[in-house]
Amino acid sequence: MSLDQNLDKVLIIDFGSQFTQLIARRIRELGVFSEIVSHKKIRISNINQSIRGIILSGGPLNVYQINKYSFDKKILELNIPILGICFGHQILSKLNGGRVKQSKHREFGLANIFKKRDSLLTKNFYGIKKTKEVWMSHADQVSKLPKNFYVIASSTNSKYAIVENKQKKFYGVQFHPEVTHTENGKKLISNFVFLVCKVKKNWSSRDQKIKLIKEIRDQVGTHKVICALSGGVDSSVVAQLLNKAIGKKLYCIFVNTGLLRKNEETQVVRTFKKKLKMNLIYVNAEKQFLGKLKNVSDPEKKRKIIGNLFIKIFERYAKKIKNVKFLAQGTLYPDLIESKSVTGSQTSKIKSHHNVGGLPKKMNLKLVEPLKFLFKDEVRKLGLELKLSKEIISRHPFPGPGLAIRMPGIITNEKIKILKEADYYFIQALKDHGLYHKIWQAYAALLPVKTVGVMGDNRTYEYLCLLRAITSEDGMTADFFEFKKSFLQTISNKIVNSIRGINRVVYDVTSKPPSTIELE
Ligand code: XMP
Repeated sequence: MSLDQNLDKVLIIDFGSQFTQLIARRIRELGVFSEIVSHKKIRISNINQSIRGIILSGGPLNVYQINKYSFDKKILELNIPILGICFGHQILSKLNGGRVKQSKHREFGLANIFKKRDSLLTKNFYGIKKTKEVWMSHADQVSKLPKNFYVIASSTNSKYAIVENKQKKFYGVQFHPEVTHTENGKKLISNFVFLVCKVKKNWSSRDQKIKLIKEIRDQVGTHKVICALSGGVDSSVVAQLLNKAIGKKLYCIFVNTGLLRKNEETQVVRTFKKKLKMNLIYVNAEKQFLGKLKNVSDPEKKRKIIGNLFIKIFERYAKKIKNVKFLAQGTLYPDLIESKSVTGSQTSKIKSHHNVGGLPKKMNLKLVEPLKFLFKDEVRKLGLELKLSKEIISRHPFPGPGLAIRMPGIITNEKIKILKEADYYFIQALKDHGLYHKIWQAYAALLPVKTVGVMGDNRTYEYLCLLRAITSEDGMTADFFEFKKSFLQTISNKIVNSIRGINRVVYDVTSKPPSTIELE
């Protein structure tokens, strides 16, 4: 279990709610550090003085399934304020001697709660009225309050919508203050953090920058560090942090696989070597990658070939640099959170992801992972604080295997050339029309199908270009972006008229699921 031992924080014990990450984000948005740990992993010995408050999350369980969750009752005796949310509220009540009623009927959606008493937790929460609309999502509910607990608010269906043990600073809420549907929910969380736990603000991009640079220096000392740079947000921020922390002892390796977007290698070298003055090793491995990929059309084979070759090249250069002790990676907080699901259901393997961050541990290098406590939006803000350009920070994600997985079928130089152009025109058009930042990810793909067209008076027989543009929160689910007809017309004309080799453009209108974002 990895907890940051130094920084004052609110600890969230996760019982498997789909909203747990949201709770952490809300607290961090308030400028206070917050960490999540699974109920399966938390031990009383992990709770030190830096933990100023505890939140028990919601979850899919019920409090009577005692063999399915764990909670050390001694945590209740540590004199730390606790806020239980939904299941967290129920378990807090039960452990303190209350009762929870099992119910077959879920209460799901908006409900009104009515103020019963004043409380620090609800200070300025209701506004001028004595009611508030909140988001409920539960089946069970507390049916008998423990001793010394009082009702702060009730709804028609939940008598104990907000409860309090003022002396112990224990609070329980039956609804979800962390979701945006709960009007003013952030105020309630803010009251818990600042008025009840009395934590001071310690979490701004500037605080993070100073803290992370110091930690990198402490960890690395005088040793050399290598970092695989992809030009994407995470690896760029990691590289810039290390650049600020240890300067020329950082060696960034940027591999041109031949499957990058148009002009990407020039831009990366210009930004990182020329502008930011980093130690950047540019490896042109186009021939090796395209050689190994010749006549390969199976998506998984493509991914494996690219991933393996990338690692080989990286290892070769790491050896050349000599005496390297550390490898810097852009691991983010969501990758680290131990409990993604309480039920622990196995998901089937859809694709073998290759990420420059996912290098093998057997390289015998120690890891430097400065972003491991950050969410993506925090990484972006940190990047701006580190003076990286907005252009780098707000780029759409680009997968490690690059254009190879946007070109079903075999890969040829001719196809790469056509695809680079089409993608360039599409992305440029998005920028020109002010759409780029409204879209989570967009790209052009080249399908291995030729269709008949007519240009001038001549018959054409050329490739099909597919455009994909999606909106998403985190890439796990996605919906297609709704363009106006005029935009689709403009970009389709531009591509067909400017690029030899494409005579038809289609727009992908599938969501994820059932499709995925990339084609392969
Ligand atoms: P899929 O296609 O799985 O993509 O819906 C979800 C997100 O992940 C990106 N992606 C990758 N990123 N290495 C990466 O670094 C990969 O191998 C890889 N495959 C997909 C994809 O671009 C999307 O943002």
